[in-house]
Amino acid sequence: MILVIDFGSQYNQLIARRVREGRVYCQIEPCNIEIGKIKAIAPKGIILSGGPMSIHDRNSPEVDERIFDLNIPILGICYGLQFMIYALSGGVKKAEKREYGFASLDIKSEHRLFDGVDKTTKCWMSHGDSIYRLPEGFSRLASTDNTEFAAVANEEKKLYGFQFHPEVAHTPKGKRMLENFVINISGCKRNWTMKSFAKKVVSEIKERVKDDKVILGLSGGVDSTVTSILLNKALDKNFTAIFIDNGLLRKNEDYNLKKIFKEQLEINVRFIKAENRFLDKLKKVTDPEQKRKIIGKIFADIFQEEAKKIKGVKFLAQGTLYPDVIESVSAFGGPSAVIKSHHNVGGLPKDMKLQLIEPLKYFFKDEVRKLGKTLGISPQLIWRQPFPGPGLGIRVIGEITKERLEILREADAILLEEIYSAGYYKKLWQSFAVLLPVKSVGVMGDSRTYENIAAIRAVTSKDAMTADWAKLPQKLLGRISNRIINEVSGINRVVYDISSKPPATIEWE
Ligand code: XMP
Repeated sequence: MILVIDFGSQYNQLIARRVREGRVYCQIEPCNIEIGKIKAIAPKGIILSGGPMSIHDRNSPEVDERIFDLNIPILGICYGLQFMIYALSGGVKKAEKREYGFASLDIKSEHRLFDGVDKTTKCWMSHGDSIYRLPEGFSRLASTDNTEFAAVANEEKKLYGFQFHPEVAHTPKGKRMLENFVINISGCKRNWTMKSFAKKVVSEIKERVKDDKVILGLSGGVDSTVTSILLNKALDKNFTAIFIDNGLLRKNEDYNLKKIFKEQLEINVRFIKAENRFLDKLKKVTDPEQKRKIIGKIFADIFQEEAKKIKGVKFLAQGTLYPDVIESVSAFGGPSAVIKSHHNVGGLPKDMKLQLIEPLKYFFKDEVRKLGKTLGISPQLIWRQPFPGPGLGIRVIGEITKERLEILREADAILLEEIYSAGYYKKLWQSFAVLLPVKSVGVMGDSRTYENIAAIRAVTSKDAMTADWAKLPQKLLGRISNRIINEVSGINRVVYDISSKPPATIEWE
């Protein structure tokens, strides 16, 4: 395996991802990791990541310098390289001009790091400091116009470094360079798979949790489902997932999830029916933020009440993914063991003192989907579109009542059925119906109607940060509209939302 030492760069997860794409296991540890732990991990190679600080800053992050005497190949990237050079008595100074963007990399001497790479290639630079003197034993491998020591090596000590970022897509041959370090220089074998990862995680969880108990808030989404399967494999009855039915779910959702979790996946789930508790508190509330706060608070209350009923709970598992933890706290403080806040449960009090288990923390969504497939989760569940925690509560615009929820459920179910059968479900980031708090006049048969309006929202997106309204075929839109108006009593008009994000958001509230 390859160990990445985290100096806080926003790109360090990409390094791990590139290595894993080459089928070699890669783990990230904060830079304050003890030298003994590195020896115990015994990686085949170490990568020192970039970081936002200058090595001349006060409190700039450091790793134990004895790392350079371990006789393990080390590749420093950007700050990681500067740290290496400075620690070994070379010279690093503030560059006259911060270099940011594309540069042309001139490879000056042949090297295994550059196997399969042209003599001149593009690379991505992002640094404020530069190396001006190499320590003894180092030689220059490549330069750019602004950076003489863009790639360096000390063969005898197996130390290497790039001033540029090989992990980003802007360095087209960067992945090959990283693989050259991992395979040619560190001697790793390409034998890591999702299956071997799952096995490793399961045994790590067993070792960490021992005979204690773990809980998790299950949403039915792919992240919490994959996390549950891993924990279930490791702990069996000592793991309990808690699913809270807040009365704001889609049609048949509770029934379907119960079936999947209990029968297919055999996970120990507590299904808590709490519809009345949520709807009572939401009575007459129309402000979106108010709704979200109320829903989040009741959710956290119920979660704690249920957790307290299970004796000996010491851990809380979460399906947190890498994009959820972008802030790289690990570089400076090390991983935090006790909960500070909870993304999905909405803030548990500190006195619960549960330790976190986040097995997917270093993963991207597509990797989790691959892992889910390996674990035997059905494609329907793996490819589920995201669904917000406050559920239909933020899709019934204005006041939430049982009746209005029921109207929306029916309209939404028709919409999803049509989207599925037209083969659009997987192509869309999200597709759903929204119930508006306005009525409009219509005519049905010979009679006047005065009923609700449903809006259809369908968007394409990569990460929900931006989104485009989907250009659905007119025939499909027509079918959805006809069916909703004909089959759902209480709706006599359907409109299509053609706003992109920004400036609109995906959800209406
Ligand atoms: P917006 O509406 O801000 O939503 O464009 C971006 C993405 O986040 C989802 N979303 C939520 N997910 N809890 C969640 O777990 C929430 O409170 C929440 N609000 C919005 C939304 O569905 C979209 O995918």
